[in-house]
Amino acid sequence: MNATNMKNLIDWTDDLSVGIQEIDEQHRILVGLLNRLYQAIITRTDNSVMNEILHELTEYTVVHFAVEESLMRIFDYPDYDEHKQHHQELTQQVFELKNKVESGKTSVSMEVLNFLRHWLTNHIQMEDKRYAPFFLARGLKKSWSNRSWVDKMWNYVHHK
Ligand SMILES: [Fe+2]
Ligand SMILES: [Fe+2]
Repeated sequence: MNATNMKNLIDWTDDLSVGIQEIDEQHRILVGLLNRLYQAIITRTDNSVMNEILHELTEYTVVHFAVEESLMRIFDYPDYDEHKQHHQELTQQVFELKNKVESGKTSVSMEVLNFLRHWLTNHIQMEDKRYAPFFLARGLKKSWSNRSWVDKMWNYVHHK
């Protein structure tokens, strides 16, 4: 059985879309990383693979939050401080998890994974969706004709 016909932890559905292509693409990458972690757990993949996925997850979380926070500052978003605070809390938890797993103190449990799943889906639906109409009203484009710079940068870093 390969990874593509296994059950996902999170299936991407339209209710996860904030209506801005670049942000949706980044959220899809985060969803994909959590699905990879899930598949690594259920197939009991060895720790080096788990560490690699957690490394990518921490890196991409930082990139994604930095993009959102930059947009919030550019457009003078009123809930910036609160939103940023939530990003910081999650970033800290993900780094702690990565460090603990790397040092062999813990492994990724379904409990941790469910926490991450709830956090991501709730955050997208309750908080990220709130900034979307605000950014669009201030002139942010819904879609890009070319691949975004973050996407290019990410692929460059990972030699894709
Ligand atoms: Fe956010
Ligand atoms: Fe987000």
